[in-house]
Amino acid sequence: MPYGANADTALNKPVTVKTLQKLKGSDEKFVVVALYDAPMAAMAQKCGVEAVLVGDSLGMTVLGYQSTIPVTMEQMIYHVEAVARGNQKSLIIADLPFMTYATLDDALKNATRLMQAGAQMIKIEGGRWLTETVRRLSECGIPVCAHLGLTPQSVNKFGGFRVQGRDAAQADEIAEDAALLAEAGADLVVLECVPSALAARITQNTPIPTIGIGAGRDTDAQVLVINDILGLTEQPPKFSKNFLTEAGDIPGAMKKYVADVKSGVFPGDDHIFL
Ligand code: KIV
Repeated sequence: MPYGANADTALNKPVTVKTLQKLKGSDEKFVVVALYDAPMAAMAQKCGVEAVLVGDSLGMTVLGYQSTIPVTMEQMIYHVEAVARGNQKSLIIADLPFMTYATLDDALKNATRLMQAGAQMIKIEGGRWLTETVRRLSECGIPVCAHLGLTPQSVNKFGGFRVQGRDAAQADEIAEDAALLAEAGADLVVLECVPSALAARITQNTPIPTIGIGAGRDTDAQVLVINDILGLTEQPPKFSKNFLTEAGDIPGAMKKYVADVKSGVFPGDDHIFL
């Protein structure tokens, strides 16, 4: 039975990079949840969530900061360890926080710390200037998830949390970045807040799985933050959905998110950017 064929069943064996790469070639979407603690991580594997992301979004969702910029390695490690204790089946991806991969040495040292805390892949934000970093991490046996489009660690450069890639030149740049990072050895790429057509183009032309958040329905996977799924966000972003209202309880909300991604119901027209 393929992973997630029945969204009501727990994952039956550990998900690996290869599992996700195989799903790219199939009609089945995979599901990712950004979460930060052991009980939610345990629930994710019971609900068939193929990958969990210990995102530096925890700066805002858990720690009360205004952005991801204050997040430290120590905070990331604390949450990666908690998630790894709760979940032995989903692939565990962890963010390298702001300025912890600005040099090759820092990237190797800090990625090692996250992997030793229980991550199975690290995520870094940015385009072609990271190709050397991706190549080296990959050569050292550290799987890498790239992150393009609205990369929250660059919020001060963008002047706010804005959709990226709306003009043709910027869209071409993002698409080229995806190709270059995949060629350098990235295993997955998150596309955040980009027009649906751009995400579809990247998904079609890039050999690695794409994971969308505010990137339309044509990516190979979707990711949402647990706080948004559970309606805990005061001003939820347009691309998110509160699944708790319909489902009535927390496991139900996570299962509904999984089922709606698998069946193509989520994201709907209200959750995408044109
Ligand atoms: O930090 C995070 O949770 C993320 C996702 C929103 C993709 O990067």
